[in-house]
Amino acid sequence: MKDIINAPFVREMCEATANMYRLGWDERNGGNISYLLEEKEVSEYLDLKRVLRKIPTSFSAEKLIGRIFIVTGTGKYFKNVEKDPETNLGIVRIGTDGTTAELLWGFKDGGKFTSEFPTHMMSHISRLEVDKKHRIVMHTHPTYTIAMNTVCPLDEKDFTHKLWQSNTEAVIVFPDGVGILPCMICGTNEIGIATAEKIKKFRLVVWTNHGIYGTGATMDEAFGLIETVEKTAQIYMLTLGKAINIIPDDIIKGLAKLWNLTPLEGVLK
Ligand code: 13P
Ligand code: ZN
Repeated sequence: MKDIINAPFVREMCEATANMYRLGWDERNGGNISYLLEEKEVSEYLDLKRVLRKIPTSFSAEKLIGRIFIVTGTGKYFKNVEKDPETNLGIVRIGTDGTTAELLWGFKDGGKFTSEFPTHMMSHISRLEVDKKHRIVMHTHPTYTIAMNTVCPLDEKDFTHKLWQSNTEAVIVFPDGVGILPCMICGTNEIGIATAEKIKKFRLVVWTNHGIYGTGATMDEAFGLIETVEKTAQIYMLTLGKAINIIPDDIIKGLAKLWNLTPLEGVLK
């Protein structure tokens, strides 16, 4: 068996959490990531017959039975993942009942997966239905995105339009737009169900007064989506009430055409 600490998927989790912390997105234990792994890639590092503990999930994820994820721990600080992956991360497999997670590695101090596990698993189910290559669900608390969400109406098309008008990269990176959920109680199955519904259509979903979810086939894709929203939200907030050079709709349409992209319907005039 190879040393799991050097596994590419462990390294990617360490790098992503460290970058997110340094960008100021993940205060204290803020944020969580889950990453769908292939059985074959994990079996190079772990005996898949050896279950360390069984952890109830509090919801049914039948469509994910047998699927394996590396996931951040609840209450764990992103700034600490790199120096102690085995305590701050865990590898779990959804058990045959669909309501239990079998711990295969990690959560060494007796910990468990993120409190947002329902949202993560339900969102994986939704994204896999629209994209077979999907693997990552990433949640974080980026400052300017939350600030922009605080001062803008909770209208997905209007919010998306404001982003596309503030940065020419925005429509190219997220032509499918940004979904928005109202302020809800986090850490519940209810917010998981609502997010999973939104995430069928949008790879990015803002949780009002809380943060954002990004998804993708790779860590770079999920990270890049959130990074671009956050950069654009920063521009929007720094220029709020003063902007005189908003990107016109015909330029946004031209950018989409140039890159063969279909912008979310009903946003551009
Ligand atoms: P966890 O520490 O349980 O992952 O919670 C952090 C968070 O961001 C809640 O939304
Ligand atoms: Zn959060």
